[in-house]
Amino acid sequence: MTHDPLEALEEIRKDFDAALAQARVRGDAQLLEQVRLEFFGRSRGRLTGFLRTVKELPQAQRGPAGARANQLKKELEEALAAAAAGGAPQSAAGVEDLTLPGVPALAGCRHPITLVREELEQVFLEMGYAVEDGPEAETDFNNFTALNIPPDHPARDMQDTLYLAGGALLRTHTSPVQVRTMLARKPPLKIICPGRVFRRDAIDATHYPVFHQVEGLAVDESLSMADLKGTLLEMGRRLFGPKARVRLSPSYFPFVEPGAEFSVSCFLCDGAGCPTCKRSGWIEMGGAGMVHPAVFRHVNIDPERFTGFAFGFGIDRIAMVRYGIDDLRLLFDNDVRFLEQFRGAL
Ligand code: FA5
Repeated sequence: MTHDPLEALEEIRKDFDAALAQARVRGDAQLLEQVRLEFFGRSRGRLTGFLRTVKELPQAQRGPAGARANQLKKELEEALAAAAAGGAPQSAAGVEDLTLPGVPALAGCRHPITLVREELEQVFLEMGYAVEDGPEAETDFNNFTALNIPPDHPARDMQDTLYLAGGALLRTHTSPVQVRTMLARKPPLKIICPGRVFRRDAIDATHYPVFHQVEGLAVDESLSMADLKGTLLEMGRRLFGPKARVRLSPSYFPFVEPGAEFSVSCFLCDGAGCPTCKRSGWIEMGGAGMVHPAVFRHVNIDPERFTGFAFGFGIDRIAMVRYGIDDLRLLFDNDVRFLEQFRGAL
């Protein structure tokens, strides 16, 4: 502690510069507020306290100390205001101080769903697939009718589907992109379509009303279930490692016949059973099958000449498995503390 008032003010200035630099490095508004309170707080602020005692100083010191204190008050207030506005690091004297630590730029990073989507796109691009896009607001025909989903199918229920004014709807899956592609182009076709889909599902740890799927479609003259399984196996190996196996089990989707659910052997336990695969040894991926002839007829492709396979699955659920995320909601909360863990992730 010094008893010379001008030296005391100089000490306040130095401490203020250091505290302000800290707050700025951390880019934290709360820290900035703490600095303001430490120096300008009404009862315990250091500069406020100093100004209060000026009148008690010996006559000879009062004038210069008061003048310097008022000048310093103005400087510090300006430095605080500049820091709040995000200006260049300045010392209290208002001069750019090149010795102060820099303020790190907060760079964003890719979202885990984006990471998985980009990886899937890469896998399929290398297999000769094109990446297609489709609108999120769809017609009833593309989302349901052309996919052989009859009007009394439960998927059309208001409970599942979000309808828009005028009869359009928010697509409930990425399968309408199959319809759009087949209406626009003739076989042979090989496409995938990643995108957002919407369902009136209650929110829980594995369901969200807005989620992401990727659709795959191949149409040619002699495609079979073996081609479908080989394609899914290649994808499984690229996503989960060379030992991955694929399992198809019978299932029903109106737009494929035969239809299947497909799973990939768990990449953590290799099928032995662990918490990630809920002890089953398999990670459920989604649906697949051979394109139903009724779908081909809706899009004017001759089912006597062409066959095709299709598959679709949730990207969010794969991101959960891949990164060990136990609650789907974390993917949509936009909490920077969660998201910044994926900086540099592959
Ligand atoms: C379909 O949507 C079919 N269109 C998939 C398909 C395509 C089958 C081509 C055959 C041929 P399903 O309704 O099962 O199928 O949804 C596919 C995947 O989406 C599910 O396996 C699951 O991973 C994911 N999913 C479904 N609902 C939700 C939800 N509310 N939140 C997050 N993911 C979901």
